[in-house]
Amino acid sequence: MSDREIDSFPDLDSLSLAARDAFVQLVESTIAERGVFRVALSGGSTPKRLYQLLADVKLPWSQMLLFWGDERNVPSDHPESNYRMVREVLLEPAGVPSSSVCRPPINVEDPAETAEVYEEILRNEFVNETFPRWDLALQGMGDDAHTASLFPQTKAIDRTDRWFVENWVPQLDAYRLTLTAPAICSARNIWFLVAGTNKRQALQNVWEGPLKATDYPSQLIKPSEGAIRWFVTADANPLESGTDE
Ligand code: 6PG
Repeated sequence: MSDREIDSFPDLDSLSLAARDAFVQLVESTIAERGVFRVALSGGSTPKRLYQLLADVKLPWSQMLLFWGDERNVPSDHPESNYRMVREVLLEPAGVPSSSVCRPPINVEDPAETAEVYEEILRNEFVNETFPRWDLALQGMGDDAHTASLFPQTKAIDRTDRWFVENWVPQLDAYRLTLTAPAICSARNIWFLVAGTNKRQALQNVWEGPLKATDYPSQLIKPSEGAIRWFVTADANPLESGTDE
């Protein structure tokens, strides 16, 4: 069986509608089985439409726990904050109770402390787990093949001793906070949402290129069980003839 399932869509809207339906189905089945649904949310722009769609769905939010797979080293009300984006398009519109929301407690002056504190929070939630057993890890991918804040040629790529770390990203001249690769791979379900022509080459490298995780960090993400689900738009999908060919 391939270690990836690919669903290709004409555009971001149809991709997001399909991801919404899959998300709702997974929440319902997970809560029926275990009584709680714990997800590591992705930041960036691609999942925003999905979050907007979820805001209009009646979900058992009080039986769900929302975490962040990565965050920028900025205050939670900063325009670049992943938490702020989710708060604006999902948490507030859907009335998600604060007891279901667990964002990294950013200390801009000390990203290492933020990472340690959030890791402790995760370890207290996923007690006795080697790595956090998310019901879903929702991932985006940059046009440089990064995921979460595991950027090419950065130190966090090699961290296997931690769950959540600070990561200096020279390309951004900034710190990021991120789950480590093993702390994503431990999820029961890993979904990537990738859209846009600008992601096509990166997807080609991740799927078909040489194994070079330090250059293509999304290659690090291999589920401990099952397959990765890729929700991609046709223009991002290297396995589909592009419009420019
Ligand atoms: C972030 C994300 C990051 C994102 C990719 C893709 O904090 O930006 O978590 O990993 O998923 O950069 O971003 P877009 O969806 O905006 O292309």
